[in-house]
Amino acid sequence: MKILMLHGPNLNLLGTREPEVYGSLTLDDINSKLIELGRELNAEIKCLHSNHEGVLIDALQDASAWAGGVVFNPGGYTHTSIALRDAISAIHIPVIEVHLSNVYAREEFRHKSLISGVCKGKITGLGWRSYSLGLRALIEILED
Ligand code: DQA
Repeated sequence: MKILMLHGPNLNLLGTREPEVYGSLTLDDINSKLIELGRELNAEIKCLHSNHEGVLIDALQDASAWAGGVVFNPGGYTHTSIALRDAISAIHIPVIEVHLSNVYAREEFRHKSLISGVCKGKITGLGWRSYSLGLRALIEILED
């Protein structure tokens, strides 16, 4: 089983970016934990980060050819990107939306996600564990 962990804009700054909101782990720390968890659960994890909307769209389209599913933190594009929503709708593999912070406890503009309606499910507010729980759920769904 192969899974894409996809990280959107500004998540490369984790560790120094608003640690009181996003925690102190770097993106590399989180990716290492996810690769290790994948190993335990017999899933091969590929991690990709981009600050660019088009690169994220290409990665989603590409994943539909090789991955069973995607765990995706779209960052700020969550709240703005019809193009990412359309990409998720177009591919026929499950996508789990994840956020480190609790978007509902933050500014109102973060309460709206253009992505959620086309995702299999969503986990928000549990720090790096949003990713690990998303990964566990995705693996169980793919095993069903
Ligand atoms: C985020 C939440 C978004 O609102 C924000 O723009 C991010 C990170 C999160 O993981 O909590 O970049 O997706």
